[in-house]
Amino acid sequence: MDVLAEATKRRAGGHPVISMAVGQPSHPAPQAALQAAREALAEGRIGYTNALGTARLKSALAWHYRNRHGLEIDPARIAVTTGSSAGFNLAFLSLFDAGDAVAIARPGYPAYRNILGALGLKVVEVPVSAETHFTLTPESLEAAQRENDVTLKGVLLASPANPTGTVTGRDGLKALADYCAAHSIAFISDEIYHGLTFASEEASALELTDEAIVINSFSKYYCMTGWRIGWMVLPERLVRPIERVAQSLYISPPELSQIAATAALGAAEELDKVKASYAANRDLLLDRLPKIGLAPASPMDGAFYAYLDVSRFTNDSMGFAKRMLTEINVAATPGLDFDPLEGHRTLRVSYAGSQAEIAEAVERIAAWLK
Ligand SMILES: Cc1ncc(COP(=O)(O)O)c(C=O)c1O
Repeated sequence: MDVLAEATKRRAGGHPVISMAVGQPSHPAPQAALQAAREALAEGRIGYTNALGTARLKSALAWHYRNRHGLEIDPARIAVTTGSSAGFNLAFLSLFDAGDAVAIARPGYPAYRNILGALGLKVVEVPVSAETHFTLTPESLEAAQRENDVTLKGVLLASPANPTGTVTGRDGLKALADYCAAHSIAFISDEIYHGLTFASEEASALELTDEAIVINSFSKYYCMTGWRIGWMVLPERLVRPIERVAQSLYISPPELSQIAATAALGAAEELDKVKASYAANRDLLLDRLPKIGLAPASPMDGAFYAYLDVSRFTNDSMGFAKRMLTEINVAATPGLDFDPLEGHRTLRVSYAGSQAEIAEAVERIAAWLK
């Protein structure tokens, strides 16, 4: 947040800042989504919807699972949420009681830790490394329970992951789903970077079990961060409890955004072109970064992040990020946000920007580090 605030201030002051700090696409929402929203606005009346979303969006999402994964999902198991962020609140509130232990990967998305902590849950950060392809495994969950002297009530895994870009393949997901089923642990699968996998298979936990709580969003592949629409696929028994909490917390997700999101599900042609531009950025980073001493610390399988090992240059990634911003106007996120223990040696860069911007940023960094 500090780096972002400084980047915004510098940009306002006329400095040519390139931000690789934020995890959002530079591309706007797909044309079909914008057109659907314009038509809805011309009609004028935007109101509340059902607490778990419109029937149209839920059946379009069921179609999405048929189309992408060959799965038949009953639309009644789908809950539309105000971004996936609301989905985490709803899932945690309905699955857990205060004091319950929930495992997440370290490094991982910082909001997990913050939301779990705010709800009075015990956060069990499980270190991931090259040994386990930067993902959670039944063995690492076992070890974490022993070391922390806890019995897990939940496991939350993102694939593709932020900040590491790691994709957990079908076998890895199945091992986790089976382990959770055998130990009565709720398995929450964050699939918000689905659609953005470059070097691996992309399995949904729904292909392996009906018991997973799957969380997804229109923010990333669909380029709709500001529209604040996400969704969950739930085991049937959780639908009613989640509906009751959702009704009280949010009343409903925004109707205009639901209309736009329904149209976005049919925009794969446009969105796959955006994905291709990330793939070109990824190729450039994979080629250039190791040559300038910034090797990726984890495989860049998916999402649009490179998690870089900066230990050749510094032991203080925060100071490094600040200097990079003030000296060459390139913003990146210090690893401490994602990993409070080891993140002083890492930096996350997002490659969701335009190809010209990413290329320029890499050249500035290369010249700076010489
Ligand atoms: C792994 C992960 N999950 C969830 C989110 C939240 O996204 P949203 O609330 O926009 O759906 C993010 C945002 O960056 C993320 O990186």
